[in-house]
Amino acid sequence: MERLENKIKNATSLEKLEEVRIEIFGKKGILAAEFAKLKTIPNEQKKDFAKQLNEKKAALTKLFEQKKKELEAKALQEQLKSEALDLSLFSYESKTGALHPITQTMNKIIDYFVALNFSIEEGPLVEDDFHNFEALNLPKNHPAREMQATFFFKDGNLLRTHTSPVQIRTMQKDSIPIRMIAPGAVFRRDFDLTHTPMFHQVEGLVVDKKGKVSFANLKFILTDFLRYMFGDVDVRFRPSFFPFTEPSAEVDISCIFCGGKGCRVCSHTGWLEVLGCGEVDPNVFEAVGYEDVSGYAFGLGVERFAMLLHQVPDLRNMFEGDIRLLEQFK
Ligand code: DAH
Repeated sequence: MERLENKIKNATSLEKLEEVRIEIFGKKGILAAEFAKLKTIPNEQKKDFAKQLNEKKAALTKLFEQKKKELEAKALQEQLKSEALDLSLFSYESKTGALHPITQTMNKIIDYFVALNFSIEEGPLVEDDFHNFEALNLPKNHPAREMQATFFFKDGNLLRTHTSPVQIRTMQKDSIPIRMIAPGAVFRRDFDLTHTPMFHQVEGLVVDKKGKVSFANLKFILTDFLRYMFGDVDVRFRPSFFPFTEPSAEVDISCIFCGGKGCRVCSHTGWLEVLGCGEVDPNVFEAVGYEDVSGYAFGLGVERFAMLLHQVPDLRNMFEGDIRLLEQFK
């Protein structure tokens, strides 16, 4: 008995244990041979012999099952160990992307106006003549249409030349008070150092009851906005003309490169032109059926801001997707 128990206990693997199982419990195994003796022993001893043998078999079976479980657990451990990933192994350095400088500049602009509770509005890139021109006080054959080198489609629609049509769409769908910005892509037939056929603008519009919105409000908010963007700069408003605003102004900041002394970037004027603005022209309100309101609007080019902020000399580089340039803006 002890000899058989030791055989089981000493099995070192599941394979060895299987051999032992056949040897002890198999059809031609040790136990089978013992049971066979029953035939030959005297009847009066049979009962005791069988009882002892069955107890022996039960004890060995129990021991066998225990050993089997133990060896299975051990085998599983070894398998897990051999299949484990070594996370300390060398791997290639992974490269992370970064937001495009135009996107970064756009986000910075948007953040300012969102904090002042302006809504963000969008409009279609393919516009109709009414929203891009007509409703903005640019009737057919108006010479100011020439300023915006337009891509036309055969059906008379066009790629929007500015984000101002979103003013019109917002006034058509909402009612006063309106405080909105419209960031987005615009298109013009232009291509040189500082112009690409696709670029981005942010349009702004505030409309409320007549007398509630003034040029003074416009001056305050744009001055504050430009100092948020460019730091401690001087800001000046110059009389100008846009068909959709009256009076209109162009806004300059003191040159951020020479501090206003005069350099090549500011063409030795000490000033950099950064946006256009004005009080909304009554003809624009008439086109959308608004009465007894007042408002101001402004529009700016995101690429111009990005070029000034990051001192990019050639705008076309921004759209070539050269990773060496983009990596500098992480
Ligand atoms: N839409 C003008 C442009 O693309 C920019 C602009 C100027 C928008 C003055 C305005 C504004 O709303 O008041 O050149």
